Amino acid sequence: MFEFISNLGRWAQLTANLILFGSCFFLAITWQKKAVLEIPSSWLSRLEKGFTWLAALVVIGLVVVLASTTGEATGNVSNALDPAAWQQFIWQTKVGFIALIRVILATILFIVIAGLLRKNRARWHYGVCALFASLPLIAGTFVSHSSADEMSLVSIAPFALHILLAGIWFGGLPVFMLIILNSNREFDKVTRVLNATFLEKFSDMALPVMVLLIVTGLIVTDRMIEDDYHTLVSSPYGWLLNLKLMILMFILAIAYKVRNTWLPLFSQVDINDQIRRGIAHLRKWIRLELILALALMFVATTLANTLPAKHAIIEHWPFPFRFAFDSASEESLDEALFWSGFLLFSIALCLAWMGMHLRWNWKNKFFLPSALAAAAMAIALPPITIEAYPETYMKPQIPLDTLSISHGSQLFAEHCADCHGPQGKGNGRLAQTLSTSPADLLTEPHTVRHTVGNFYHWIAHGVPGTSMPGFAEILTDEDIWDVVNYLHALSRGFDARLLGTMIIPEVPAIAAPVFYYSASDGSSGDLKDFRYKKNTILVFFSWPQSQQRLIQLKHAHERVTQDHNAAILAIPMQQLDQQELLEISDLVPFPVVTEESAEITDTYLLYRRVRAVPDLNGAGLMPVHMEFMIDRFGYLRARWNAQFEGFGWQNINALTQQLALLNQEDEIMPPPDDHAH
Ligand code: HEC
Repeated sequence: MFEFISNLGRWAQLTANLILFGSCFFLAITWQKKAVLEIPSSWLSRLEKGFTWLAALVVIGLVVVLASTTGEATGNVSNALDPAAWQQFIWQTKVGFIALIRVILATILFIVIAGLLRKNRARWHYGVCALFASLPLIAGTFVSHSSADEMSLVSIAPFALHILLAGIWFGGLPVFMLIILNSNREFDKVTRVLNATFLEKFSDMALPVMVLLIVTGLIVTDRMIEDDYHTLVSSPYGWLLNLKLMILMFILAIAYKVRNTWLPLFSQVDINDQIRRGIAHLRKWIRLELILALALMFVATTLANTLPAKHAIIEHWPFPFRFAFDSASEESLDEALFWSGFLLFSIALCLAWMGMHLRWNWKNKFFLPSALAAAAMAIALPPITIEAYPETYMKPQIPLDTLSISHGSQLFAEHCADCHGPQGKGNGRLAQTLSTSPADLLTEPHTVRHTVGNFYHWIAHGVPGTSMPGFAEILTDEDIWDVVNYLHALSRGFDARLLGTMIIPEVPAIAAPVFYYSASDGSSGDLKDFRYKKNTILVFFSWPQSQQRLIQLKHAHERVTQDHNAAILAIPMQQLDQQELLEISDLVPFPVVTEESAEITDTYLLYRRVRAVPDLNGAGLMPVHMEFMIDRFGYLRARWNAQFEGFGWQNINALTQQLALLNQEDEIMPPPDDHAH
């Protein structure tokens, strides 16, 4: 109920404000002949009478918005009526402050309208009113979803423009309607012709405005969805958006009919019965259009207050399939089919357009393009359709860090390795005995092609008809996500075989698994803390085999850290005793990680492979010493596996050269996400 009232307030205020802005804008630019304005019963007087009421409605609506947002933001509905809570909300939050600014702007608008419109009519009055009416609208965009990510002109301007354009179109409608409703009384010729020019001007303006409105709408929507197109059919935001588009389609259809069929009748000078009937039609449809436009506004305000699609959490995907464009590229035939279908669909659209313009009979106009479009979809969609499950779009609740990955690796060894093999290669002890061979989770690009939600589904529920069992009874939700994170790191780790001692400039591809650590020198932190500051070198060492290397790094320490903007973290690959730890801490000037070193090692071992040594058999080889270079944005860029990659970074120059290259790079991609996906 509370939510409904607050949406109603938003809607009333927005609608009134848009009508004011649009009507004044329209009058300011179409103002031409004084004659219409001097007829006492003219539609203009009626419209102007409405203006003061509308301005009052804007103020009231914005006060309701201020009150209800106070209630929502403080989580206590009764605060909506508590002036003390309002005060706090206004002075302590940006949203509250902007709500107040809007009330003030609306009050000024009210005063301006009441003052100016009482005087004699003049074109500039309407211009000034339109200007003042635009201010509360623009202020509103500062608390929109568009401004939530980033408060900048680029992010707000398209939305502000969208709102103002909506005002120009929607606000012009009442003028349109009043003229037509009044036309009963104004059957003298001069007025009729004048009115007709007004209508035509509006109609001319409406087309480009509508095109721009749709373009800005697409820009705004694209930002709210990002790449999560599936949310269009599975989140409240998506459904509301579809509803909005559907209403818009009806409105456009009516507008098209009005413009092409009925409007020409209206400007006829000689009235006969047929024309009267036509005008009666026009009146009916314009009324319907206005009602639809009001509904559209209601959906739009609700949409503006719904969680944007890109943030929606889809716990339950409603369809047993989904479309994935990368699945088409697997087979060239599939790809060819998809593009032929696409081409056919484009032809269908062209036919539809031609049909409308060349005035084909309705059978050809509708059936031909529809049949072609249906055929196009039948050809294009199957190649990109893949199976999906309710969990397909679920997002992991557990962040992708070494703690989770390492726990996942233990669970995998315990529950999965017998079939899938110790390294996930699909060659476990029992593999030969099974009727279907277990999936290769290491080298095949499974995890890249499937969503993490799919993995969750398979692990929780198994794969029917095969020997892959479900683990929902044995493993907790968190356990399953840990295993999913492990599988994710496993296959990304396999990709890391392409890394070497030299970076590939400008290609950050593999995220460095993050971790929290504490070190022997009392320091502690998060690997993420280095982002945007320093490159990081992780030194995985064995004791005492790595002693020489650690001494070398000690001597190079200043050069690496000071001159080349890097931090060094040493991570023991085996458990060290107190004595050893003291010895090493005395030796090296950089932190030696104590807590979580086992988890960190477990995880980074997955990234150990070099191109020449695929290392797929058995449990895999355990390197003695390896080092990883992470750039300032959190990506693994180079690795030296001392056993297989020769002299490598023992040449400190080779190491610092890579750092110098990294320091020249700017941010290419934002840092990796906290969660697997
Ligand atoms: C009894 C043997 C067995 C055990 C135990 C087992 N799996 Fe499987 N798994 C299979 C088989 C067989 C398949 C292949 C199913 C198919 O053909 O679609 C499979 C398929 C999968 C798939 C689907 C891969 C894909 O891309 O289709 C995943 C993921 C998976 N297993 C993960 C696991 C995990 C994680 C565990 C341990 C928690 C596990 N499996 C335990 C036999 C097993």
